[in-house]
Amino acid sequence: MAELLNGQRRTLMCGEVTTNEIGKELTLMGWVHRRRDLGGLIFLQLRDRSGIMQIVFDTDVCSGDLLDKASTLKLEYVISVTGKVRRRVGNNVNPNMKTGEVELVAEELKILSEADTTPFSIGDDGANEALRLKYRYLDLRREDLQRNLVTRSKIYQITRNYLAENGFVEVETPMLGKSTPEGARDYLVPSRIRQGSFYALPQSPQLYKQLLMIGGMDRYFQIAKCFRDEDLRANRQPEFTQIDLEMSFVDQEEEVMTLTEGLLVRMFKQIRGVDLPEHFLRLPWTECMNRFGSDKPDLRFGMEIQKLDETVKNSSFVVFSNALKAGGTVRAIVLKQGADKLSRKELDKLVEFVKTYKAKGLAWYGLGKDGVKCSFAKAVTEEELNAIAASLQMEQGDIALVVADSDWQTAVVSLGALRCHLAAKFELYKKGDFAALWVVDFPLFEYSEEEGRFVAMHHPFTSPKNEDLQYMKTDPARVRAKAYDVVINGDEMGGGSMRIYNRDVQKLMFETLGFSDEQIADRFGFFVDAFKYGTPPHGGLALGLDRLVMVLTDTANIKDVIAFPKMQNASDMMSDAPSTVDDKQLKELGIKCEDHDE
Ligand code: AMO
Repeated sequence: MAELLNGQRRTLMCGEVTTNEIGKELTLMGWVHRRRDLGGLIFLQLRDRSGIMQIVFDTDVCSGDLLDKASTLKLEYVISVTGKVRRRVGNNVNPNMKTGEVELVAEELKILSEADTTPFSIGDDGANEALRLKYRYLDLRREDLQRNLVTRSKIYQITRNYLAENGFVEVETPMLGKSTPEGARDYLVPSRIRQGSFYALPQSPQLYKQLLMIGGMDRYFQIAKCFRDEDLRANRQPEFTQIDLEMSFVDQEEEVMTLTEGLLVRMFKQIRGVDLPEHFLRLPWTECMNRFGSDKPDLRFGMEIQKLDETVKNSSFVVFSNALKAGGTVRAIVLKQGADKLSRKELDKLVEFVKTYKAKGLAWYGLGKDGVKCSFAKAVTEEELNAIAASLQMEQGDIALVVADSDWQTAVVSLGALRCHLAAKFELYKKGDFAALWVVDFPLFEYSEEEGRFVAMHHPFTSPKNEDLQYMKTDPARVRAKAYDVVINGDEMGGGSMRIYNRDVQKLMFETLGFSDEQIADRFGFFVDAFKYGTPPHGGLALGLDRLVMVLTDTANIKDVIAFPKMQNASDMMSDAPSTVDDKQLKELGIKCEDHDE
């Protein structure tokens, strides 16, 4: 039978008891984590968010009734225990536990709530993921998930303090709004009052935060929920959180970047005790692509992409010469001391790996202990092989992996992915290494084959570089943006830009994107109008908060830093959302559903 708390208070949390409390009487409350019954002596592990404390029911000290009661306790019962703290002796001392030097000798026990047998044992992170998500509240009792959420909470506090110190005002923007031009699919909410019309949940507060600048708020921030209906990945959720900010009277990227560095430096210091450099490396987008095959390079390790065009320009190997003739390129990475680590079978797998990035194939050339192993040895001379080795500064034991392609981007991107794949496989970096950088000088536009037009790489309100404005009409591909992404350990932590605040430039931008006047009026009419009434130069950025928590807690899966995450198919296993609704609700909304298979 469950007992009442009746106003009883706990003295400390379980994980807070130290040798200072020896001899003191304490009341602790929590969940029964483990129970060991030795007949006449029962050991319990009592768990709460702060940790675990050992409780002893000992017939030498407590009554037979109390021992009997303690013997009815099952795992996950919620109890309150009062007793005296004593020092553990001999084998009983547990140096691996925060509270391993002390135990509480129980004098009183209240069973506050009984528990059925749980569907999986608490703390078992090997249990089936779907089951753990269905009973998320039980999985949340796991120490590492609780630790992640506590770190997340610290990040909110650090952010709020830092931005408030820097003159930022926290403002909430609507969840029910108009579709924003962030580029992913919207989550739509039907209107009851205006049937047939829909709100869109924000993909980001982009438009609102710019309107706040026009509204004179000067510096805004928000820990903002964002919604994007896109394919999920290990670092993507349909519902995620941004640290979103915007500031007025700035027109240089550096101003937002420096401010953001200050925030990240403080976070890493306070949470991990790590000193990030005050000034991160800045790498232009083109250089990033050439050296690392990615706009979010992982700089914890080397293995940079190298260009072989000059070395193989007269190659008798048609794969190389044809790529070059077609205006393409030949690029390589070198896995140091990898020649004997990669078997033929593994190399075949790597060929398949690069093909998923559209490369046509992968050539290799290794200086193994049994001699040269090379996929194109028959097609080239020994001099050419030597020239390649020299150009790539290869040493005995190294292996070069080469992609030739008529398309530069395919060559570098596939090698960039291979570079990260090999670094993970051969552990070329370790936990606790952090490499932060800014990627700058992004192209303003990218050409969409699908749409047959240029589209904005960030969003249509990103300002072009002043010196590139001249190419807007003639050569849009050449125009660079005043945009920046912050990357840590190969993951995009955030991005932003200086915004267009000049009406002529905005018009030029829309023209290049091929928007008609009607489209502009329909999609961004209210927004474009606002710019007519005095707009300060402004810019900002958004950090992906979930991803920051991931890096700061060394977590590989975004689900482990969100209290109630969604599954791969964007559903919530626990509540079973999304779900069907009553016909009455649909009728009120003027919506008819086609029949769908469950
Ligand atoms: P962007 O679209 O680059 O910029 O988003 C900013 C950051 O948000 C994170 N992020 C995500 N995190 C988890 N799940 C997702 N589905 C997801 N999508 C994005 C990333 C990303 O870097 N309005 C602009 C910012 C600006 O220009 O000020 C924006 O939203 O870490």
